[in-house]
Amino acid sequence: MDNTFGTIFRITSFGESHGEIVGIILDGVPAGLNFDLDFIQNELNRRKPGQSFVTTNRLEQDRVRVLSGIFNNKTTGAPICLLIENKDIDSSIYTKYKNYLRPSHVDYTALTKYGGFSDFRGSGRFSGRITAGFVMAGAVAKQILEKYDIFIFAYTKSIGNIRDEENYLLGEIKNLHEIREKSLVRSINPEKAKLMEELIEKVKNQKDSMGGTIKCIVFNFPKGKGGPIFNSLESRISKAIFAIPAIKGIEFGAGFKASTMKGSEHNDPWILKDGRIQTSKNDAGGIIGGISTGMPIEFTVAVKPTASIGIPQKTVNIEKMENVEVEFSGRHDPCIVPRIVSVIEAMTANVLLDCLLIEGYIPRIIDF
Ligand SMILES: Cc1cc2nc3c(=O)[nH]c(=O)nc-3n(C[C@H](O)[C@H](O)[C@H](O)COP(=O)(O)O)c2cc1C
Repeated sequence: MDNTFGTIFRITSFGESHGEIVGIILDGVPAGLNFDLDFIQNELNRRKPGQSFVTTNRLEQDRVRVLSGIFNNKTTGAPICLLIENKDIDSSIYTKYKNYLRPSHVDYTALTKYGGFSDFRGSGRFSGRITAGFVMAGAVAKQILEKYDIFIFAYTKSIGNIRDEENYLLGEIKNLHEIREKSLVRSINPEKAKLMEELIEKVKNQKDSMGGTIKCIVFNFPKGKGGPIFNSLESRISKAIFAIPAIKGIEFGAGFKASTMKGSEHNDPWILKDGRIQTSKNDAGGIIGGISTGMPIEFTVAVKPTASIGIPQKTVNIEKMENVEVEFSGRHDPCIVPRIVSVIEAMTANVLLDCLLIEGYIPRIIDF
C-alpha cells in the first residue's frame, strides 16, 4: 500500500472509514503562506457526506484539526498534519455482510492482497472517506497556486445520459462557482442540473446507483511545464486522479473523440494574440508532448456508479464457498459524482503544485 504521493510537495494519507480519524501529512509546503483554515473547511464541506438526498445519509461534521506545521498563522516549512474525526459510525452492516463479496467493490481484491486482515468496516482504507485528506491537502495547494494566479475549476458534466454539452467560454466558467455550489449535483447548467437530480432520485428509489463525468479546467497554468516520456503532465495528472476511488477513465481535451476526428478538425491553430502565442481552440487540452502549452489544462474523468446497491445481486459467500444472491443494505451515495468534484480539484492542485515546485516556478519560501 503506497500512501505517499508527490516529489517535493508530498502528501501522506492515513486513517480508515470507521477508525478514529482520517487525515493527511503535508511535507514540502513552502514556508511563509498565510494559513487560511476557513478555506480548508469550506473545501471539506463541499465533499462531506449527508449534504442532500443525492449523497449518503452518514452525518459527519468533518471539522478540520491542525496538529502541526503552523506558527503565527503561517506555514513554517515543517510537516503539516491535518485530520478530521469519524463520528457517525455504524459498522453493523459490514459485519453482517463480511462473508459476502460485494460485486465491483474491494472485498475480493482486498482479501487476495491482505489475507483477510484489512479493516472491512465502511471499506476501511478503500473508502471514499480517505479523500477528505486529499481535499485538505488540495486546499493548501490551491491557496498557494492562487497566489500565482492559477485557478482550478471542476463541475459535473454528466450524470448517466444527462449531459451538459455546453461549451462554456473559459472566461465565464471561472465565475460560475456560486451557481455550482447551489446545485446539489455540482452542475453549472441549472436546466440540466434539475434533470440530473431527478435521475439520481429515480435510481435511488429503485435502490440502484448512477455514475457520471466531471470536467476540470486549470486556468493560467504556465507554458513549458512538464516533459515528454515517463513524467508527462498527462501521466502525472492521471496518476493523481486515479488515486480517487471510483474513477474509471480520464481524457484530455478532445480525448477519445479525437480518434473520430480528421487532423484538420482536431489540430488547434496557433495564433498570435495580445503578443502571446496561443491556440484558437483547445482540443489538445493544454498539453502537447507532455508539456503545457499555456492554454487552460482541460480534462474529463469518468466516475463509475456506486458499487453498493440495495437490489439483489449474484455473488459468493466465502465462508460457505457457495453462489448466493444478496441484497446489500447500508448507507451509501446513490451517486458519488457531486462529492467527487472537489476531490478532483484537490488532487489536481496537489499534483500541479508539486510540478511547479520541481520546476522551480514556485519557490520554497513565499511570503503572502
Ligand atoms: C467520496 C466518495 C464516496 C464514495 N462512497 C461510496 C459508497 O457509498 N458506496 C460504494 O460502494 N462506493 C463508494 N465509493 C467508491 C468506492 O470507494 C470504490 O468504488 C471502491 O473503493 C473500489 O475502488 P474502484 O472503484 O476505484 O475500483 C466512494 C468514493 C468516493 C470518492
